[in-house]
Amino acid sequence: MTTVIKNGTVVTADLSWKADVLVDGGKIVEIGDNLSGDKELDATGCYVMPGGIDPHTHLEMPFMGTYSTDDFDSGTRAALAGGTTMVVDFALPSPGQGLLDALQMWDNKSTRAHCDYSFHMAVTWWGEQVFDEMKTVIETRGINTFKHFMAYKGALMVQDDEMFASFQRIGELGGIAMVHAENGDVVADLQARLLAEGNTGPEAHAYSRPPQVEGEAANRAIMIADMAGVPLYIVHVSCEEAHEAIRRALQQGKRVWGEPLIQHLTLDDSEYAHPDWDHAARRVMSPPFRNAKHQDSLWAGLQAGSLSVVATDHCAFTTEQKRYGVGDFTKIPNGTGGLEDRMPMLWTHGVETGRLTKEEFVAVTSTNIAKVLNCYPRKGAIRVGSDADIVVWDPAKTKTIAAASQVSAIDYNVFEGKEVKGLPRYTLTRGQVAVTDGVLTSEEGHGKFVEREGGTPTNTALSKWKDLTAPRPVKRSGIPASGV
Ligand code: URP
Ligand code: ZN
Ligand code: ZN
Ligand code: ZN
Repeated sequence: MTTVIKNGTVVTADLSWKADVLVDGGKIVEIGDNLSGDKELDATGCYVMPGGIDPHTHLEMPFMGTYSTDDFDSGTRAALAGGTTMVVDFALPSPGQGLLDALQMWDNKSTRAHCDYSFHMAVTWWGEQVFDEMKTVIETRGINTFKHFMAYKGALMVQDDEMFASFQRIGELGGIAMVHAENGDVVADLQARLLAEGNTGPEAHAYSRPPQVEGEAANRAIMIADMAGVPLYIVHVSCEEAHEAIRRALQQGKRVWGEPLIQHLTLDDSEYAHPDWDHAARRVMSPPFRNAKHQDSLWAGLQAGSLSVVATDHCAFTTEQKRYGVGDFTKIPNGTGGLEDRMPMLWTHGVETGRLTKEEFVAVTSTNIAKVLNCYPRKGAIRVGSDADIVVWDPAKTKTIAAASQVSAIDYNVFEGKEVKGLPRYTLTRGQVAVTDGVLTSEEGHGKFVEREGGTPTNTALSKWKDLTAPRPVKRSGIPASGV
């Protein structure tokens, strides 16, 4: 049974043109004029784009004494509803737990996925077992990205020597290092001081994580990655200080990517001053929301290409879970949702305002990350042979975001009340129509794991350069006799 998407404009990261798209067996098989198929989807007035890829989610993640509420079922349904057809979640070993053991847990959870997915591996401690298992993770399991937390002291945080050892190992194996860049020692100190001074409310979460803690850590990670000879991907870049470090690194020829979140682009720190405790606590995430100066920097980075990808860091906790932190902001589970809203919010605040072209929209929501993660053009492309992960985007369709009508399983939405213009008419996951004008028909378990090989073109180029410029002994014609 073939499906044809008719009368639309295909939009890719580098080109837009009028064409029909024919899908068979979950793949794009033809792009051209006057195509026909068994089933027809009308794309008149719409853009036919690669489905979104959200490279940063935490579905059913054990964190801060609880589990994030959206799991691979509700989370991937929310993704599809918003035009996202692939998520990349973080497999998170608890300190001391083996990488393969943690992966088994993520394999079990992800059987419920409605769209395709992949994993990043988190390195939360360091030892011989981690060193050894990294090889299996990358070579056998198809996971080429390894995340390090420079924050969450006493829990997930790793030290610089551990990070340097891990980065070198990743470089050797042809993988990509990732960091959550915040100076966890400074954050812990500021948290203790704020609490002692009676700053217990959710606004103190933001006070304890100023832009400097992020800028310092981003710089440090960039330098350590450079010394280790590994490409670096910095997640949830929220401020000018971290962005500045990335810009500088890029201009020096370092291999670095920065990922802002849709939350940081469109919500600011005034949310924490809200008189309602619940309102502020629901927006507690790390790094926190920033002011307009930082938001302008992030938008400019997407325009300039110094920031490459817009993600969500979807990590959704209910109001009840957020209330674990009443009286002590350090106990508010960190995280916000966004999977369903990333694409419409970015279209509305990016393309509709003229900050981004529609081709740039495709680049930062799908194509760029598919290339970084080494799953392009299977994902992130409208090309013959690519997976038919497609969103038929209706730029005229509007809605008001509301928790009451969302797919996510939590009881609020940080974008509540925002008007969006630009929504999916259809979302297809490997050829299966999962969304039709807001109605979900997706299937639990349809999602498949996407393997991603190491040894990406960026790795190969960087290794060549590092080999060429590595320290070597100076060849001398004669060595003087020892003075002893
Ligand atoms: O606050 C956040 N970002 N929660 C999820 C875990 C992380 O740091 O990415
Ligand atoms: Zn993080
Ligand atoms: Zn995260
Ligand atoms: Zn299926």
